[in-house]
Amino acid sequence: MSKLKVAVIVGSSRRESINRKLAEALVRLVGDRMEPHFVPIDDLPMYNQDLEGARPQAVNRFTQQIAAADALLFVTPEHNRSLPAVLKNAIDWGSKPMDRNVWKGKVVAITGTSPSAIGTAVGQQHLRQVLGILGSLVIGGEAYISFKPDLMDEAGDIANASTRTFLLAYMDAYLALAAKVVG
Ligand SMILES: Cc1cc2nc3c(=O)[nH]c(=O)nc-3n(C[C@H](O)[C@H](O)[C@H](O)COP(=O)(O)O)c2cc1C
Repeated sequence: MSKLKVAVIVGSSRRESINRKLAEALVRLVGDRMEPHFVPIDDLPMYNQDLEGARPQAVNRFTQQIAAADALLFVTPEHNRSLPAVLKNAIDWGSKPMDRNVWKGKVVAITGTSPSAIGTAVGQQHLRQVLGILGSLVIGGEAYISFKPDLMDEAGDIANASTRTFLLAYMDAYLALAAKVVG
């Protein structure tokens, strides 16, 4: 079987985003078992149904990239105990029109990091709920990462051995399920 094409969606537009850094570290951790594609969401306009007649180019680019992926990996901060607006906006664009909902049937892994002890747990629960309604197959298990300045080493890899082992197990389960579903 060819490598799984995984769309990586980071729920932060911040230049120094710790979630982008975590996503990059995860991609390196998994190695060549998947083909990652980082899909930008910060160029999408705010969802407005009036734009449906002639969807902006950035929206078409975005939905095509998601549709072309075998599976999706979300790495996102939590904003006020929910998913960030920039991410919800992207999901809304992808959910319409209903018969071209790009989220349906995609195997999804969710993780994220924040400096707080709960490490994005509540935001991830909201994201899981939204994607579930849209027909994504969000894998079981949880991967909440409490951010500390030494989470990543100088090369940008996960520094702590037990965190590395934990995340690798999460990604192994994800890739195994995605491979079964994609066939
Ligand atoms: C609008 C806003 C809301 C936030 N709400 C939460 C929150 O609910 N829980 C949390 O752990 N951190 C919260 N934070 C702090 C973020 O975890 C922190 O800014 C983190 O660096 C964001 O991830 P990023 O660097 O990938 O953008 C919030 C930050 C912002 C800007």
